[in-house]
Amino acid sequence: MNGTTQVNGNSMRPILHSGSFPTNKGKKSLTLIFSPEIEGVGTLAEALRLFKEFNVNLLHIESRSSVRIPNGYEFFVECAPGGDVDGVVEMLKKTMAYCSVVSSTGDTGKSDDYIPWFPQRIRDLDKYANQILSYGSELNADHPGFTDPVYRARRKYFADIAFNYKHGQPLPRIDYTKEETETWSIVFKELVSLYPTHACNEYNHIFPLLVENCGYREDNIPQLEDISNFLKDSTGFTLRPVAGLLSSRDFLAGLAFRVFHSTQYIRHHSRPLYTPEPDVCHELLGHVPLFADPEFAQFSQEIGLASLGAPDEYVKKLATCYWFTVEFGLCRQNGQLKAYGAGLLSSFGELQYCLSDKPQLKPFDPEVTGCQEYPITEYQPLYFVAESFESVKYKMIQFSKTIPKKFGVRYSPYTQSVQILDSKLQIQELVKNINTELQILCYTLNKIV
Ligand SMILES: [Fe+2]
Repeated sequence: MNGTTQVNGNSMRPILHSGSFPTNKGKKSLTLIFSPEIEGVGTLAEALRLFKEFNVNLLHIESRSSVRIPNGYEFFVECAPGGDVDGVVEMLKKTMAYCSVVSSTGDTGKSDDYIPWFPQRIRDLDKYANQILSYGSELNADHPGFTDPVYRARRKYFADIAFNYKHGQPLPRIDYTKEETETWSIVFKELVSLYPTHACNEYNHIFPLLVENCGYREDNIPQLEDISNFLKDSTGFTLRPVAGLLSSRDFLAGLAFRVFHSTQYIRHHSRPLYTPEPDVCHELLGHVPLFADPEFAQFSQEIGLASLGAPDEYVKKLATCYWFTVEFGLCRQNGQLKAYGAGLLSSFGELQYCLSDKPQLKPFDPEVTGCQEYPITEYQPLYFVAESFESVKYKMIQFSKTIPKKFGVRYSPYTQSVQILDSKLQIQELVKNINTELQILCYTLNKIV
């Protein structure tokens, strides 16, 4: 605080999620996947009759091509608590070609096999986008805009836009007011003067491209749609407006799909160098440039993929690693300390402080970093230093192997979906595909050499 810029990153203080499956004490609920033996008219009706017979109600059902049964298809089903779920599973296992319980909650609400729901397709992000912990227009009494009815109405306008947004729609263009642009202008001018000496090389390489392609100017607040298109061309990352505070689990899940949830409003004009929460200055000046860097983009996605279906305690560790890297990360380049975290690159005060001799520094190590406590309303007393984006990515991949999960996940950029890997056949198919690609690469390499 103290009149300096200090943001909460993306409000990423770990807020644990209780899971999205309905629980009903004393009753069991589950989510499962099953595939019929052969495709035929009435197969689904047959399966549904089983659910009715065992008094199990369905909350959600969808069909898709099977990745387990060659040329087959499968059903993904979420059951409501109640009924004889064990009975229906037993029958499905007898009558279907494939049946697997993806997650199950019992009397205690969480069984050993419990897996929190997670999105598997990019449009599934719509399902939790509005499961926000606080609406973007709800301001605390100490917020600079708390007593300003015009600002509050504006915040509600932005929150409503994000609330109604659905995947695939163009990102809403905002006609920013003169006052809002003046606030941006002050922040922009101050920060741009520091980037050449304080920001990492990758940031300084990409920033001019945003000036050239996305309208990054002192007198203009860039539009999310233009930036999202630029990022998509660079690394496949896209932006999505967010109506309020998401849980750590939901926010990280977006990264698995290379989707970054971004605010679109700006801080209150009375204190241009301070904001108690992430705003458009933090997102566009802090986060956006590095999402255009391939190595950084992949690192961010690795955190997201690791979080899918992970137990709460591991989501907390991943969110803490995110805090100390994507939000407040430092790296060493050519023997010099540089900032790459968005909380630093969007804070005039902390960007200078973090490179001074005041804070404590430690090497980035997910096992250690993931357990580190941190303040959210003042400058960080401790930063973790990365050797390179490649190195932090490798360390995160190694760390993700320690997360207890009975399945693997793989992201397909073609379908923008996450494939759950839990059968030998799937892995064999993948190995075959990778082998083919390796052969093509080896052949090409030989031709070039
Ligand atoms: Fe952030």
